[in-house]
Amino acid sequence: MGARANRVAQGFEDLAERYDAWYDTAPGQVLFDLELGALRPLLAGTGGPRLEVGVGSGRFAAALGIEVGLDPAQAPLRLARARGVRVLLGVGSELPFGDNTFGAVALVVTLCFVENPAAVLGEVARVLRPGGRLVVGLVPLDSAWGRSYEEKGRAGHPFYGHARFETLAEHRLMLAVAGFRLVGARSTLFQAPSDEPVAEPVHSGAAAGAGFVALAAEGESAGAD
Ligand SMILES: C[S@@+](CC[C@H](N)C(=O)[O-])C[C@H]1O[C@@H](n2cnc3c(N)ncnc32)[C@H](O)[C@@H]1O
Repeated sequence: MGARANRVAQGFEDLAERYDAWYDTAPGQVLFDLELGALRPLLAGTGGPRLEVGVGSGRFAAALGIEVGLDPAQAPLRLARARGVRVLLGVGSELPFGDNTFGAVALVVTLCFVENPAAVLGEVARVLRPGGRLVVGLVPLDSAWGRSYEEKGRAGHPFYGHARFETLAEHRLMLAVAGFRLVGARSTLFQAPSDEPVAEPVHSGAAAGAGFVALAAEGESAGAD
């Protein structure tokens, strides 16, 4: 693990309980449900086994039926294991799995924390079976939520301080460069981050201004949806 990856993992190691407990708060539950609502339809119909890279405490994996989770921080992995996820310690740029292993791989608000997103996407492409699906959950920098998280990071926030937020277009480009073709998207969280979160619809497509976007992609050679 590189020095940055070590620092990032240490942050999640030290604050695992705090990070996880936030999802039990009223705003945490609203955001969790919105994000799940965006991710779930993109994973529907994918074959197992499924992997989440950067699984953290496993809330998303458990709710989405993702069987296997990998993360460099041990403390959140213990929580993920208790939620029934099969967990492995490791980094996304060196996945400890053979080629063509998974029917789907999810990266939920993780690409912004990894040292080398291109290397992680390369590894994801390697472990996906032909026709397998990558689902990325992200907070675009070109949204009020992305700008707010980035500001918090600059002010020394224990998690966002380690993140590098990027725009929706930058994510699209990263996926294309890694050989992925977009096959679906969902967008939500158009409300202001300064307000108490409330339920809102999840829209089909990758919409400008959404605070949470889920992108589904497959290898260039895979057939269209
Ligand atoms: C914001 S958390 C998201 C956790 C989980 N996906 C969720 O949404 O609750 C980012 C996760 O990425 C993990 N992470 C950091 N660097 C990583 C790397 N190089 N490879 C894989 N995961 C990494 C962190 O330890 C952390 O658990």
